[in-house]
Amino acid sequence: MPLVAIITGSKSDLPTLDLCVQTLNDLGIDHEVQVMSAHRAPRKVQEFAEGAAEAGVEVIIAAAGMAAHLPGVIASLTHLPVIGVPIAQSGGSAVSGLDSLLSIVQMPPGIPVASMSVNGAKNAALYAAAILALKHDPIRKTLLEFRQRQATT
Ligand code: RP5
Repeated sequence: MPLVAIITGSKSDLPTLDLCVQTLNDLGIDHEVQVMSAHRAPRKVQEFAEGAAEAGVEVIIAAAGMAAHLPGVIASLTHLPVIGVPIAQSGGSAVSGLDSLLSIVQMPPGIPVASMSVNGAKNAALYAAAILALKHDPIRKTLLEFRQRQATT
């Protein structure tokens, strides 16, 4: 499997993750997107999370909306860093993503999830890059170049 696994709770979340995928592409970071719901397909989530490290994944980005347990459940089943993206779809939640934000950011002590902002797909990619840059020199170089370019726009 690639270095970054992007897991999302529903196909309906995919458009929100476009910027995450695009940013990882721009940085030349291998990734793969899979849809699996923590409440509709818990066994599939368990199989993925338990096998991810051995499969070569180094960072997991997990995105979900509403009562968003997906990132926390994945984090409970792997030691890999999990970056959570709370999803707010237009018309998808009565409370505009506050539900998913709190579900992801308020992890009880012991199992951390790094929560991005609501629909913070681009930052999820950049945070994954920062983690990978600790070990992968080419990713560090590309990330630093991106940061330099960004500073001049
Ligand atoms: C969550 O519930 C998903 O991540 C999605 O954001 C939300 C609604 O899912 P669908 O009903 O659109 O499949 O599990």
